[in-house]
Amino acid sequence: MKDRKRVEEEIKRLKKQKNAVILAHNYQLPEVQDIADFTGDSLSLSREAAKTQADMIIFCGVHFMAETASIISPDKKVLIPDEKAGCSLADTINAEQLEDWKKENPNAVVVSYVNTTAEVKALSDYCCTSANAVQIINSIPEGKEILFLPDMFLGAYAAKVTGRKIDIWPGECHVHAGIRKQDLDEMQESHPEAEMIIHPECGCTTNLMYQVENGACTENGNGNGNVKFLSTGGMIKHVKESVSKEFIIATETGMLYPLRKANPDKKFHPARENAVCKYMKMITLPKVLQSLEEEIYEVKVPLETALKAKRSIERMLEVTS
Ligand code: 13P
Ligand code: SF4
Repeated sequence: MKDRKRVEEEIKRLKKQKNAVILAHNYQLPEVQDIADFTGDSLSLSREAAKTQADMIIFCGVHFMAETASIISPDKKVLIPDEKAGCSLADTINAEQLEDWKKENPNAVVVSYVNTTAEVKALSDYCCTSANAVQIINSIPEGKEILFLPDMFLGAYAAKVTGRKIDIWPGECHVHAGIRKQDLDEMQESHPEAEMIIHPECGCTTNLMYQVENGACTENGNGNGNVKFLSTGGMIKHVKESVSKEFIIATETGMLYPLRKANPDKKFHPARENAVCKYMKMITLPKVLQSLEEEIYEVKVPLETALKAKRSIERMLEVTS
């Protein structure tokens, strides 16, 4: 405990001395979220990276998120405290595979989820996050062919909500894909009063959307028996406003920390206890301190790739601003 206090104080001191800002994703360890200047979902973290006056960004999240910050703010030093913090979803498609897919569909508009490498973003027309995938698809003129990558559950969700015909890459996140309809059924049986909050990357998304369509459960509005598909940032906003007192949260379990912190009077149950992203948990307080001290590990994207990738990120920020 004493050690933790010392590490926290040292982080604060160095942060001030180096004019650094700490950004942390909602899935980060509680102690890392507590030391951060800003916590949020991928979209809000990109926005913070774009507007910060700091000289250095310590990005507590996974590699593609730090890369996005570096693309948006190339004049800032962007550091990730553990360079091995990757993303199984981003790994499901590389630039070569996307080039081949584009050759097969030369007239299509490419929409890439932000969980992709800079090279993949550089080959994309639009970037999107789970918070704005629907808005981005809706901004594309009717009749245009759309290629969506890499998450098939988010893609299916966006296609269903917008009613658009979309070609979807068959990628998935190993953590979210593992959250199945059966997990939710079991949780709902034990907590019949709870509202279900689902991240659209989850394996249960498609099945639940089908149920919503058939009236087996309802989307929108507050209260019991409801299901909502939300980004991690959307979850925080919705839970605060909801009249419900109990929630089943279908996403990475780190999400329960900010939800409980902001809503001490409400109850939260993870849809699946072992839905843990090992990459997100690689960032620890001692590593944040080491990152500030030694200025490691710098995330820098080659200029040509960064400029192309930036276009797709800026198009997203323009549509959603
Ligand atoms: P959010 O954009 O909802 O924060 O999700 C990012 C992510 O990696 C989900 O696994
Ligand atoms: Fe990637 Fe899944 Fe981890 Fe999110 S939870 S960072 S999509 S591996």
